[in-house]
Amino acid sequence: MPPRGPAYRIVTPRLVVRCWEPRDAPLLKEAIDSSLDHLRPWMPWAQHEPQTLAEKVELLREFRGEFDLGANSVYAIFDAGDERVLGGSGLHPRIGPGALEIGYWIRADAVGQGYATESTAALTRVAFDVADVERVEIHCSTENHASAAIPRKLGYSLHEAGDDLIFTLAAADFPTTPAAGARLAAYDAIGAPLIDDLA
Ligand SMILES: CC(C)(COP(=O)(O)OP(=O)(O)OC[C@H]1O[C@@H](n2cnc3c(N)ncnc32)[C@H](O)[C@@H]1OP(=O)(O)O)[C@@H](O)C(=O)NCCC(=O)NCCS
Repeated sequence: MPPRGPAYRIVTPRLVVRCWEPRDAPLLKEAIDSSLDHLRPWMPWAQHEPQTLAEKVELLREFRGEFDLGANSVYAIFDAGDERVLGGSGLHPRIGPGALEIGYWIRADAVGQGYATESTAALTRVAFDVADVERVEIHCSTENHASAAIPRKLGYSLHEAGDDLIFTLAAADFPTTPAAGARLAAYDAIGAPLIDDLA
């Protein structure tokens, strides 16, 4: 059987988490430009913001290309109407084989509503149930309490605590975590369902 996925589009009760398209560039730019002070302390890439619209188009072409090649899955977090960029996330293979790291940011005026937890729960489930990995990690700075709260709520364990906190969830432990209860629909490149809890 051919491999399942990747999940191009994930629908949760309040969010659409999907592969970026180059045409999203103005929406991404507006979300970041309005959130610079909020993002700069925590996101290394925010030091290079604001970028021009042309730079954002190039970035999203790269994200889309990597996504299609199965090299790296950078996701947009949209509102339920797929109209407003609420943030970004990703399933990144940069921690070695059989494992994915989830990163996330939420625009400044949309924090405090549980969106990062909702999207991270969904991506955790997609990592295990679609991408079939053995381990998912979330890394954050020891100072970033808002970020560290998310893996804790979802049932990840603190694995290493140096300058960075590394939270880990193993496939064997996943079924009993709050993340496993995430309700979602996930669709592949042609829109065929990979998971469908929302029907
Ligand atoms: C860290 C960050 C992603 C958190 O985003 P967020 O969406 O506010 O995070 P959460 O999902 O935890 O939601 C926060 C609060 O919303 C509240 N909330 C309101 N409505 C809610 C709902 N329907 N469901 C769940 N929580 C809800 C909750 O009180 C929750 O906090 P609590 O569960 O601890 O009580 C965001 O602050 C951010 O982008 N920071 C800058 C970038 C960054 O640090 N990224 C991480 C790098 S490691």
